[in-house]
Amino acid sequence: MIDLQVTDKTHDEERQGEALIIDAPRVRNGRKLYIESYGCQMNFADSEIVASILLDQGFETTGDYKEADVVFINTCSIRENAEQRVRNRLSQFGAEKRRNPKLIVGVLGCMAERLKSKFLEEEKLVDVVVGPDAYRELPQLLNEVESGHKAINVLLSREETYADISPVRLNGNGITAFISIMRGCDNMCSFCVVPFTRGRERSRDPHSILAEAQDLFDRGYKEVTLLGQNVDSYKWKGKDADEDAGIEVNFAQLLEKVALVSPDLRVRFSTSHPKDITDEVLYAIARHDNICNYIHLPVQSGSSRVLELMNRTYTREWYINRIDAIRSIIPDCAISSDIIAGFCTETEEEHRETLSIMDYVQYDFAFTFSYSERPGTLAARKFADDIPEEVKKRRLSEILLKQQETSLYRLQQFVGKTVRILVEGSSKKSDQDLCGRNDQNAMVVFPAAEGIEAGQYAYVHIDRCTSATLLGTAVVEEPQIV
Ligand code: SAH
Ligand code: SF4
Ligand code: F3S
Repeated sequence: MIDLQVTDKTHDEERQGEALIIDAPRVRNGRKLYIESYGCQMNFADSEIVASILLDQGFETTGDYKEADVVFINTCSIRENAEQRVRNRLSQFGAEKRRNPKLIVGVLGCMAERLKSKFLEEEKLVDVVVGPDAYRELPQLLNEVESGHKAINVLLSREETYADISPVRLNGNGITAFISIMRGCDNMCSFCVVPFTRGRERSRDPHSILAEAQDLFDRGYKEVTLLGQNVDSYKWKGKDADEDAGIEVNFAQLLEKVALVSPDLRVRFSTSHPKDITDEVLYAIARHDNICNYIHLPVQSGSSRVLELMNRTYTREWYINRIDAIRSIIPDCAISSDIIAGFCTETEEEHRETLSIMDYVQYDFAFTFSYSERPGTLAARKFADDIPEEVKKRRLSEILLKQQETSLYRLQQFVGKTVRILVEGSSKKSDQDLCGRNDQNAMVVFPAAEGIEAGQYAYVHIDRCTSATLLGTAVVEEPQIV
């Protein structure tokens, strides 16, 4: 039975080093793959493509690297500490390789792309280095390694979307799944390594996206999250020779098409870019009950001057205008953000502008980071990383504190009300409790009740909350829904 991994998390701080396993009914060659993933949801989705490619070669997956023939680590480069974690993990794999010299160790993903052959020089235990657009070459690269050579392919592509590869759903709950709708990024935010590690932006054929959504729904899945670095710039145009010659599909249209797969299939998406999110997208969300009222709209900074240095191509006023549009078109929409503390030359006053935009928006949730200079980025080349570590730390803690207060305030608004959730399974802390998310992506935990099972929609009366979770009781009677 093929199922999928679940996550509510977006960034590497939250997801690190999870081993992905599956028991798949394909012809086996007796060889075992262990794959561990770091970084964003897109990297986790890529690991499902990689597993699919190797399962087709007869591999099976294992959750224990000590019994594996091939160990892959799918890496993230977004901040220095993300790379450091991978290096530490590689040294553990090194110890295993000394015990079992036949073990093949491969580095995939963004660090592979960033460091290329340097990886083979720096980390002697690594046998194979593969960038995010070269996974189709994995079988050949493994053959090269077996014939005694180190192997590398880090070519980026303008076309590769792996559209025809059906991802195996790793470690999943069978209820929620990711669908990659595009790859790469053309934005060149000055702090960001992604355009270098993932290459040019390209959108996946909508037919294959819809087929994947339909297939998931037919197999019992109830929620899909459409993934891209900047989903709002999704754009696909039918090629000349095809039936769809000249037909264009933008993100709002794609969203709507996926929503029409079934009213029982909830649709989420991430990440939205403030410069590109259109009212057309907002109206599509408002029109369809099954497109969740939740938008991840990273602001990064509340200061127009800093935003300009970051090359985000919007101002504070523009961002506020987008927030106002969301509030007027989708009044109960939850909004989350990514915020960077201590970007090059940021003054105290500019830091306070970040705090004040947080007050204005009242985010439901935010991922917060201290600026980490990344080699080769525009910022690394043009600006000094001049904010002392202790100042970055203090600014970050002020941002965090504010967010904790706001998250609590936001969740308190649900207390006393009844919300509709998609039940995902037992809660992390106790198998006596079930958990699931409401439309606005808030996590709801409640005691298991007769007749309520994973994969169902259920109504829960919210009794109380923490700053991260709503706690309640399942209701069976006709509820007043939020
Ligand atoms: N495509 C998404 C974000 C991808 S990276 C977007 O444009 O919003 C996820 C987050 O990591 C970014 O939003 C940013 O807040 C953070 N980030 C990226 N590079 C960083 C760096 N060099 N230092 C600190 N945080 C960084
Ligand atoms: Fe990085 Fe900016 Fe692209 Fe996001 S939009 S991936 S932050 S370059
Ligand atoms: Fe990290 Fe690459 Fe994603 S740098 S955040 S894994 S696109």
